[in-house]
Amino acid sequence: MQQDEQKKQAAQAALAYVEGGIIGVGTGSTVNHFIDALATIKGRIDGAVSSSEVSSARLKGHGIPVYDLNAVGDLALYVDGADETNRQLQLIKGGGGALTREKIVAAASARFVCIADETKLVDVLGRFPLPVEVIPMARSLVARQLVQLGGTPVWREGFVTDNGNLILDVHHLSILEPAKLEQQINNLPGVVTVGIFALRPADVLILGTPQGPKTLKVE
Ligand code: A5P
Repeated sequence: MQQDEQKKQAAQAALAYVEGGIIGVGTGSTVNHFIDALATIKGRIDGAVSSSEVSSARLKGHGIPVYDLNAVGDLALYVDGADETNRQLQLIKGGGGALTREKIVAAASARFVCIADETKLVDVLGRFPLPVEVIPMARSLVARQLVQLGGTPVWREGFVTDNGNLILDVHHLSILEPAKLEQQINNLPGVVTVGIFALRPADVLILGTPQGPKTLKVE
């Protein structure tokens, strides 16, 4: 089965977790399939909170109202993709550059359902370059400190986040202690968000596979 078909199957399986109300919606090609699937049951929900301008536009295009998080309080459900996941459902995110808003919406949600194709599952996080959103004036300072932590940061030139900041993609990290590294990088002055989602991992992972979607949970 093609990778995109696996993404689509995982996205459609996530509809089973939709119980109405306002849904947290992430960003990426897998989430695009989820948004399209959500549109087929839009009469059962009140709307969405989105983690990016791109997802907001797609939701609105389907006639799904998009709300500001400040206007709605906590959410029951957040559905988002990932660039990598381990079996503890700790994630690397931010390949699309939306990591800060994704982390905010994940933190506001009682249940985080991650949808991905099976190529995203790894034993140790770090094969995918770790995105770090930084305040522009701190780009070089943060890059030097990421080198001290053992990584090779590469500036994603020409890319500006929805928040007006820059992204450093950190190569050559083998992330054996994701929660510890998340805290370390978060603490560097100038860092807005690191794309490790370990302190608040996913609660459910729906993985598209050639045999159909598989669900993983951390007990
Ligand atoms: C966006 O910033 C990322 O966190 C996405 O969730 C991630 O890149 C997944 O993208 P795909 O669904 O396109 O693989």
